Amino acid sequence: VGHIDDVQELRKTKPTQIPQRFVRDMSERPKLAAIVPSPNDIPIIDLSKLVGSDRDEQERHIEQLKIACEEWGFFQVVNHGIHPSVTENIEKVAKDFFMLPLEEKQKYPMAPGTVQGYGQAFVFSENQKLDWCNMFALGVEPPCIRNQKLWPSKPANFGETLEIYSREIRQLCKNILRYISMSLDLKGDVFEEMFGVAVQAARMNYYPPCSRPDLVLGLSPHSDGSAITVLQQGKGSSVGLQILQDGKWVPVQPIPNALVINIGDTIEVLTNGRYKSVEHRAVTHKERDRLSIVTFYAPSYEVEIGPMAELVDKNNPCRYRRYNHGDYSKHYVTNKLQGKRTLEFAK
Ligand code: SIN
Ligand code: FE2
Repeated sequence: VGHIDDVQELRKTKPTQIPQRFVRDMSERPKLAAIVPSPNDIPIIDLSKLVGSDRDEQERHIEQLKIACEEWGFFQVVNHGIHPSVTENIEKVAKDFFMLPLEEKQKYPMAPGTVQGYGQAFVFSENQKLDWCNMFALGVEPPCIRNQKLWPSKPANFGETLEIYSREIRQLCKNILRYISMSLDLKGDVFEEMFGVAVQAARMNYYPPCSRPDLVLGLSPHSDGSAITVLQQGKGSSVGLQILQDGKWVPVQPIPNALVINIGDTIEVLTNGRYKSVEHRAVTHKERDRLSIVTFYAPSYEVEIGPMAELVDKNNPCRYRRYNHGDYSKHYVTNKLQGKRTLEFAK
């Protein structure tokens, strides 16, 4: 991605027209006028009620989590125990990074077919439309997936801040997966045992304002390749995340200090489709920018994934094949984002 395709640089030049490379074909445009606030927002889960100090309360909240996973594939968690300073600090360094001069950011270029470094991921051809977004992505855990050359030296405390943030989010992911397994009447540690040393990656998305939000997409529709994803919406950011529910795009209203959790393809396959990896996208705003910080939590690459025996029976025949998670990850990062197309790999 050259100078002209960097949306922050583009924005600075105040072009009278959006370059064609970003203008979506009619059928792909976000049709923002058709988006009405949904009567019911995505579920909110109070994590402090799931820890189990009160058994009845825990059961009731596990039931809510189950409904959230079955009917939405998305929920927001509150009272998650992560100190606001941790989430504030990651936002600050992410924003500071994106505000660096382009030359500085380009010291950490994203190589095609990878999702590590600065630039646009999932772009494979000249005629593919580009998202109105800059990304900065890094593999975090286990340490062997890190490309240390891509960890930026500016802002100075970036690496340390990401480490602290990632440690907290990792624990949150483990906890949520435990509750998810309980909600399926499975042993609490099934996923932890199955996943081995889980792979964790961070992606920061920066969406500058766009003079024609009706023509572009901030991030193309897709489902996540992870087991679960944790998404932090920047304070003061525009509302940009939308999920596809019953054929309609539903905006996710940010709640201060909440984190958005979504089910990824891996859990969809493991649960034989009972919990859905829901398609989502990001749209842009005319005047306001938007920052999101996303953590993908997934099994170790050598793990074999397929519908779990407990979730397959006469009434729920096996819907996916078994495959190696590393092969799936490779497939995911070497294809463009296109709704739920990546899951075809598992069919
Ligand atoms: C994502 O799906 O990776 C990010 C969407 C967002 O920016 O909210
Ligand atoms: Fe996503």
